Amino acid sequence: MRSFLGRDILSLKDFERNEFFRVFEIAESLEPIARSRRNSDLLAEKTLVTAFYQPSTRTRLAHEAAMHRLGGHVTGFADAKMTRAGDFYQESIKDTVKMLEFYGDVIVMRHFQQGAPHEAAKWASIPVINGGDGWGEHPTQILTDLYTVLREKGRLDGLNWLAVGDMRMRTMHSLAFGLTQFDCPITFVSPPDMGLTKEFKEELNQYSLDYKEAEHVEQAIADADVILVEPVIQPDYTKSRDERGDDVGMTPANYKITRELLSEKAKSDAILLHSLPRMDEIPPDVDITKWSRYWQEAFNGVVMRMALLALILGATE
Ligand code: CP
Repeated sequence: MRSFLGRDILSLKDFERNEFFRVFEIAESLEPIARSRRNSDLLAEKTLVTAFYQPSTRTRLAHEAAMHRLGGHVTGFADAKMTRAGDFYQESIKDTVKMLEFYGDVIVMRHFQQGAPHEAAKWASIPVINGGDGWGEHPTQILTDLYTVLREKGRLDGLNWLAVGDMRMRTMHSLAFGLTQFDCPITFVSPPDMGLTKEFKEELNQYSLDYKEAEHVEQAIADADVILVEPVIQPDYTKSRDERGDDVGMTPANYKITRELLSEKAKSDAILLHSLPRMDEIPPDVDITKWSRYWQEAFNGVVMRMALLALILGATE
């Protein structure tokens, strides 16, 4: 197995099956630290640099919380408008990371341009973690989701997935690439103008993903062991910031998971994931049902970032 020491985490296309399990193994071993709300000293000598060019609640703060749980330090920015990349100078990724690499030992970057973290990794002498790049990928989120499934269901192979939402979304790309390493058939349900692109389908065929498409969640929910939902009403992920307009729209029934639908059609032991933030695609009354696992997913988001940071920074081999 390749070492994680000093490695960039840019895409789940790069991940081999045994590497997924290695990360999950480390996550499980570190989980008690987060569960008992303790801080350890595993990364006491290390600093995480956060470079966020797009808004985030979970990804940035989960990385920061993970670093604190491991006794490390954090510096960085949550709004590029307060840096030279976001003012008159429009400082390049190269010039920015040639500075950031001296401020810490690993960079986590979110950017509105697809491929920006890859560009950063080209120039930085320290590892770069992709915290979401435009419509590109969101590898740490899907590692979190796969870990959540493993913890909740006890296995990954042999589970049927249903993914609902905008298939241009970065989480969907990382999900599809991740599932190519497991025996997990998946059905995608999305609005016609947000479906899998021809190029992405060709790529998934090359990677031998067992997938199909459906028009309505009702057609696929009964077979699903894992239901992963993302919004179809959402901002433009190629913008640094997209304010909400007056007319937001409602999620059509085809892409909505309600309490009634779950009660009538879902398997009793299916689990429901959502990386959040949400609009109305999962109404709040679903939160207190036996299917919802998104709060566990939120906890696991910290644990997963602890595992990645520990592996990349050499606290564990
Ligand atoms: N799930 C996720 O990426 O959330 P944030 O946009 O809040 O980081």
